[in-house]
Amino acid sequence: MSPLPGVAAAPADLTVRGIGRLLPMSGEPVADAAVVIRDGRVAWTGPSRELPPGAPDAVLDVGGACVVPGFVDAHTHLVFAGVRRAEFVARLAGTSYDGGGIRTTVEATATATDDELVDLAAGRAGAALRHGTTTMEVKTGYGLSTDSELRLLRLVDQLSGRTPVRLHATYLGAHVVPAGRDREEYVAEVLGTLPAAAAAGARWCDVFCDQGVFTVEEARRILTAAREQGMGLRLHAEEIARTGAAALAAELGCASADHLEHVTPEDARAMAAAGVVGVLLPTVTLSLRSHAWGHAAVLREAGVELALATDCNPGTSWCESMPYTIQLACLAMGLSVDEAFRAATLGAAHSLRLDDVGHLGTGAHGDLAVLAAEHEADLVAHLGGDPIITTVVGGVPHA
Ligand code: NIG
Ligand code: FE
Repeated sequence: MSPLPGVAAAPADLTVRGIGRLLPMSGEPVADAAVVIRDGRVAWTGPSRELPPGAPDAVLDVGGACVVPGFVDAHTHLVFAGVRRAEFVARLAGTSYDGGGIRTTVEATATATDDELVDLAAGRAGAALRHGTTTMEVKTGYGLSTDSELRLLRLVDQLSGRTPVRLHATYLGAHVVPAGRDREEYVAEVLGTLPAAAAAGARWCDVFCDQGVFTVEEARRILTAAREQGMGLRLHAEEIARTGAAALAAELGCASADHLEHVTPEDARAMAAAGVVGVLLPTVTLSLRSHAWGHAAVLREAGVELALATDCNPGTSWCESMPYTIQLACLAMGLSVDEAFRAATLGAAHSLRLDDVGHLGTGAHGDLAVLAAEHEADLVAHLGGDPIITTVVGGVPHA
């Protein structure tokens, strides 16, 4: 029944049964449950004893496991080449992160061929799939010229044909000012690239708005212009220092503000009022050794909707795993199990303005993760194991 790993398959019919505990996210948990998927979409969920007649013959029996909607990874930088070993080792010795290492990855990415980059990214998408991810946001940002950023958008498009994971592309030309470039001139180049980026499939635009990177004023110009091109807005905000980026996200009505390690209660209240989803990236705090765990509580207190993401990138979060992200969110950031699973599914879908993923309501994509656990709390508690048995995308199981 399983297609070759990494190869996208047509939407299918499937009956998932033997579910000890189902978290549909569209409603309350169901014990002893089943899910019916028809033509790749959820057609029915409920207690097994009520399974409607004529359910698909193709059956996945999960043997009492807990089943959740496929994870939505709302923030990744998936397409890159090279590693950042020297930077990482220096950090273990006490050096702090300033975003400068992005240029190292830009050089390695420029040197790699298209095929190499797509192979590398497909490998990462495969790892994410094996960890339960079925939808993923993918940013550019390791090109840093019009041509190289458009190349990365083309490669994201190619990658879509190489993985069952649903990809949503974001143009992040404003990741860092390239080495040797005048910043004003580079901002002008980013502005000039927006129409072609939108035409190349970037539904979203993002800016790394932080100390030493792009200013609030530069981010405002870029995002305002992006909106005129019909792109949705996201923002890397308050990661290195508090610069006012989260308030800008609220002012512009961005769909998400991400990172937020240095967010203030006032910023958080503005985000909540504007409906900006706060994307938490706990693996970044771990990798940067910044010990910034308190912002989740600030956001929760203000009533900001939370999402979780891996931020998969070579510099600050070499991680494709949403289960690991969920574990850190609970154990280090202080989210409850319920908050973390909601943030990794429904909250993340809301941050991408998607209404047919992140839950298993009727009509949603038939995307789900079969946990190697009877209860979602056990996935959080069991460290270092293999957290996912099977990931289903559009009714197709991927072991
Ligand atoms: O989300 N903060 C900006 N971008 C990435 C890091 C990119 C890099 O260092 O290569 C992030 O952490
Ligand atoms: Fe990022």
